[in-house]
Amino acid sequence: MSMARRTLARAVGLLALGAASALAGTPAAAPPHLVQRDGRHALMVDGAPYLILGAQVHNSSNSPEALKKVWPAVQDMHANTVEVPIAWEQIEPQEGRFDFSFVDTLLAQARQNKVRLVLLWFGTWKNTSPQYTPAWVKLNNQRFPRMVDKDGKPSYCLSPFGEETLAADRKAFVALMGHLKKVDAQQRTVIMVQVENEVGTYGLVRDFGARAQAAFEQPVPPAVLARKKALVPGAASGPWRAVYGDYADEYFHAWAVARYIEEIAKAGRAVYDLPMYVNNALRDPLEQPPKPWKNNFASGGPTHDVIDIYKATAPHIDIVGPDLYSPESAQVNGSIGLFQRPDNPLWVPEMSNAAVYARYVYPILGRGALGVAPFGIDYFDYSNFPLGSRFTDKRMVEPFAGIYAAFGTMQRQWAQWAFEGRTFGVAEGDDHADQVITMKGWNAKVSFGQWQFGEKEWPGNAKEAPAHADKLVGGVAIAQVGDDEFVIVGQRARVRIEPATPQGLGAMLVRTEQGRYDSSGRWVMERNWNGDQVDWGLNLGAQPVVLKVRMGRY
Ligand code: DGJ
Repeated sequence: MSMARRTLARAVGLLALGAASALAGTPAAAPPHLVQRDGRHALMVDGAPYLILGAQVHNSSNSPEALKKVWPAVQDMHANTVEVPIAWEQIEPQEGRFDFSFVDTLLAQARQNKVRLVLLWFGTWKNTSPQYTPAWVKLNNQRFPRMVDKDGKPSYCLSPFGEETLAADRKAFVALMGHLKKVDAQQRTVIMVQVENEVGTYGLVRDFGARAQAAFEQPVPPAVLARKKALVPGAASGPWRAVYGDYADEYFHAWAVARYIEEIAKAGRAVYDLPMYVNNALRDPLEQPPKPWKNNFASGGPTHDVIDIYKATAPHIDIVGPDLYSPESAQVNGSIGLFQRPDNPLWVPEMSNAAVYARYVYPILGRGALGVAPFGIDYFDYSNFPLGSRFTDKRMVEPFAGIYAAFGTMQRQWAQWAFEGRTFGVAEGDDHADQVITMKGWNAKVSFGQWQFGEKEWPGNAKEAPAHADKLVGGVAIAQVGDDEFVIVGQRARVRIEPATPQGLGAMLVRTEQGRYDSSGRWVMERNWNGDQVDWGLNLGAQPVVLKVRMGRY
């Protein structure tokens, strides 16, 4: 079902549900769901757009004891949503006997901590491997076959053509969704579910087993061809090689994995319909056009170049999200640009928790993402440095905490503005260069690494650069809330708002208030910026601030 049709069906379902629960006297919270308008997206939670200020725990933090190290980090971070793995091995250690005790503990503690949850289904594939499958799956290669190469040599990776593997994974996932429906349909603590984790295969482009080979020789399904056009000139239809040439193996594998995931997601949603997504270990977004696979990424995963294959094959997966672990600004901008599409909401389910990534929260949320979740937000004594922060204490969350606190006071407003297309954002690039944000009638010029007073060229200013000038810390997000009104949130940046086209004599700041939104959504002014604080642009300091700005012309 298309997203629009699903939304309509949901609305109708909601009315029915509302009527039923009104009769029963226990109104259920509205189910979380996605809406789409003019190519923009919102995740509706409790009936309004929701901004995910997320935090993902470490892989091995899915036990009641481990959660004790999670909540303090989540609170210090000011996160409103926590992503936690639910492993197949944990809920079905013996075939057919399910244990949801951890899920129940997690839900109770999330509610106590006043956060929502995104659950990560670690099933057949976790970072492509079967390591989170139960032992009875891992050890039975006959029943749960691994992929094989052209010579019949097995890969570590389970085959997407393992019929029994699919049936068993699907059964466990359906049991999980059924349990969630039972324990959470009233409160809706769980707002989204990730199906599998970073799927695909390293070291082998596709399965060459008998069933896979037979499927490879079949014509490409028309739904796939409709979205992913033939690459071989003149080949309108036919088997994978005939249609996609050198890309045939990896496209076929993407289709096979997507088909498998679709079966699981579809069955899960039939029981309890929550938004579902897949995450991706990225291929280089700057290699354009993308070259055929040469062992340089996980083949078959939902990389940017096969999003169309996933969309055609897995309609019960709403989103393909990028996991950001390459710190270069060109990589981050490239990936978020490729994953934000009218048919694919931008949602960053994972990002490194290293300090240099904190500034990327601004362009991600400024571009109208559903949200973002740095990984490893957890005081467990484990650090995934050098991928992430070297710290495992408060120093790890600090770079993100102020930013989340600033967005946190206006999270619902921001999500609404984003859905209306009013939000923008930039992060300091690796070159520290100035950037321009183009808005309706106005531009914002953003520069970095300056003192808060005076111009860069002034002899005094030029003599000594501020300590942050060579660091990558600046970021700004702006919501244009009225024709001449802006809400600006940012740090370590200078912002000058200027008319897009000169009219009359000039433009000026009419009023600049620093403040926050209170819990009822009212703006609370804390300081009126004027004089030195506006004469050299709006100079945002080390601590993220929220400014409400009114511009005028004279
Ligand atoms: C991405 C994976 O999705 C995470 O589970 C984790 O393994 C990180 N990589 C690395 O820490």
